[in-house]
Amino acid sequence: ASKLGSKKERTLAMIKPDAVTKIGDIIQMVYDANLIITKAKMTKLSWKQAADFYSEHQSKSFFNNLMQFVTSGPVVAMEVMGDEAVSIWRKILGPTDSESARKDAPNSLRAQFGTDGTKNAAHGSDSLASAARELEFFFPSTTGHGPSNSATYTDC
Ligand code: PPS
Repeated sequence: ASKLGSKKERTLAMIKPDAVTKIGDIIQMVYDANLIITKAKMTKLSWKQAADFYSEHQSKSFFNNLMQFVTSGPVVAMEVMGDEAVSIWRKILGPTDSESARKDAPNSLRAQFGTDGTKNAAHGSDSLASAARELEFFFPSTTGHGPSNSATYTDC
């Protein structure tokens, strides 16, 4: 049951190529935080898809490095739902740089499964607006042929 005053949200969580083998531990961290996974997909991003997903960072010095890394293997995208899901998932992730995370938040996901400022294990939407855009990127609402997104966990 929802706590009084809490907000049920959806966010986009993405396991990056360096941490896909840790998917079991990562899913456990989601449920331990009282969040649920309502959609999931493993996919390999093309450079163009990655550039679209991270378009807000295209002018940054690290952009090519980020593209190279995030296209180096499969990623797992998940729709994560629950009270304050956006901020709770970011809290689970910990600091962006996994080396800082090991100092400042040793139990965080990035401290445990990431390596450094590039290989940092996972991503989380930084706002409700980003979450809406990023969920639409991985789980478009109009799918054409093939299995549809319309029958989700929460319909069951
Ligand atoms: S910024 O400039 O504050 O907006 O950037 P930041 O929030 O720290 O990072 C934005 C995303 O870029 C990734 N990043 C990097 N990737 C590869 N190499 C380097 N050096 C690097 N620095 C930052 C960072 O992990 C963020 O990705 P996501 O997937 O959103 O966590």
